[in-house]
Amino acid sequence: MNRQLTILNGPNLNLLGEREPGVYGRTSLPQIEDDLRAAFPDVAFSFFQANGAGALIDRLHRAHADEAGGVVINPGGLSHTSVALRDAVAAVVPPVVEVHLSNVHAREDFRRELVTAGACEGVIAGLGPRGYLLAVRYLMEHASTGA
Ligand code: DQA
Repeated sequence: MNRQLTILNGPNLNLLGEREPGVYGRTSLPQIEDDLRAAFPDVAFSFFQANGAGALIDRLHRAHADEAGGVVINPGGLSHTSVALRDAVAAVVPPVVEVHLSNVHAREDFRRELVTAGACEGVIAGLGPRGYLLAVRYLMEHASTGA
């Protein structure tokens, strides 16, 4: 069983905790990462945040080359716009789960379209930081059963 997971966060998610707390809450990205490490001590996590699509695409390619067990990605605003990021998700072998802290379906209309999500195995939206924990749990179960 491959317990190597990559956790990718896109633009502006480095500001979690201070950024629009009414929408995204008060939990910082380092706190989310610490919570994942604590909840899944057997998983070798690779955490990465970038504000541009290119760096995220490079990191997806690396997860592919490293044969990572899976990827959790919150593409931030790129979810709604980036065909290139979607193509990268579609190109890689590791299963990818998309996470959004906020319920993008209950916000502005432009957030309803998720360009990247169609290439992902599944999407979790609106459950706050818990979404990352659920996505990792799913990938661990997927990796162990292959189902
Ligand atoms: C987000 C939702 C996006 O619409 C927004 O652009 C973000 C954060 C979320 O986690 O809820 O940056 O991906």
